[in-house]
Amino acid sequence: MIECSHLSKHFGPVKAVDDLSFTAQQGQVLGFLGPNGAGKSTTMKMITGYLPATSGQIKVCGIDLAEDPLAVKNKIGYLPEGAPSYQEMNVGSFLQFIARMRNIPASSQQSAVDSVVARLNLNHVYYQKIDTLSKGFKRRVGLAQAIIHDPEVLIMDEPTDGLDPNQKHQVRELITTMSKNKTIVLSTHILEEVHAVCDRAIIIANGVIVADSTPNEMEVMSRYHHAVSFVADLDTILLNKIKNMDCVRDVTYSARLKETTVFPTQGLFIFDEISSLLKQEGIQVTSLKMEAGRLDEVFRNITKPVQNKEVHR
Ligand SMILES: Nc1ncnc2c1ncn2[C@@H]1O[C@H](COP(=O)(O)OP(=O)(O)OP(=O)(O)O)[C@@H](O)[C@H]1O
Ligand SMILES: [Mg+2]
Repeated sequence: MIECSHLSKHFGPVKAVDDLSFTAQQGQVLGFLGPNGAGKSTTMKMITGYLPATSGQIKVCGIDLAEDPLAVKNKIGYLPEGAPSYQEMNVGSFLQFIARMRNIPASSQQSAVDSVVARLNLNHVYYQKIDTLSKGFKRRVGLAQAIIHDPEVLIMDEPTDGLDPNQKHQVRELITTMSKNKTIVLSTHILEEVHAVCDRAIIIANGVIVADSTPNEMEVMSRYHHAVSFVADLDTILLNKIKNMDCVRDVTYSARLKETTVFPTQGLFIFDEISSLLKQEGIQVTSLKMEAGRLDEVFRNITKPVQNKEVHR
């Protein structure tokens, strides 16, 4: 549904996007991750036809953006970074305007507006001027205009930025529901969101793809993968005993959280050994878990300032 090949964007000497190639399929939610300035928004702006690429090709639903930009724009819903809109309009008239611009037939325009107003809980701000809305409500108006014409492809630049936890949850559910018959690309700095909504994540750093895989595969790259963490009062003797076990590579202990993390020797499952030892020693644990891996740690390793340009798959 979205095919980008050898996409680059240069702003003078700045290579904002540098030879990026990827495809996103229908039914898939693809997450763009990366540090500030990595090139996520620039890539999205090129896919939506908002910014011309310096080089490379973009196809959306099989249509070449360079050959028929209008046809591509018709297929896409776009929430730009910061959710810009017409500040002097009120919410209802802004959405009615977008419905007209999106060529929704006159007879269905109001029902399209009503539907997105309900989906994004905008009822009580319907007559409010956009510039007087709070940040989260502005973003919800931005989301509403992006989906009003039920596009096949949805590009959302930080869709949940500034939303309260309830709205974040609701918007993530909305994204998951919509994803069944759409291709969705979103960017986010919230790593838990990758697990909550994305089938696949691409990490971009310095305009280059440095990882492209499922959230679960990314967790496997974490040193926390299959580590065992537990919360309990531990003395140094027992900590050292754990450290000296053959199956243990390393142990960390946070005195503030009373949390111990035990890292296994490469490839081993140590959950049973650790839980038996704690039982044997009569240690009261308030939680004990085997970790899947920590995406924030993988993200930090992969996007360190000195870039390793190898792609992790
Ligand atoms: N119009 C422009 N003119 C000059 N440089 C630009 C322009 N737009 C973006 N850049 C530069 O391109 C690089 C990528 O910016 P981009 O906005 O794509 O990053 P991002 O990954 O979206 O970051 P963030 O997480 O902060 O939103 C940055 O170095 C930015 O300063
Ligand atoms: Mg951005």
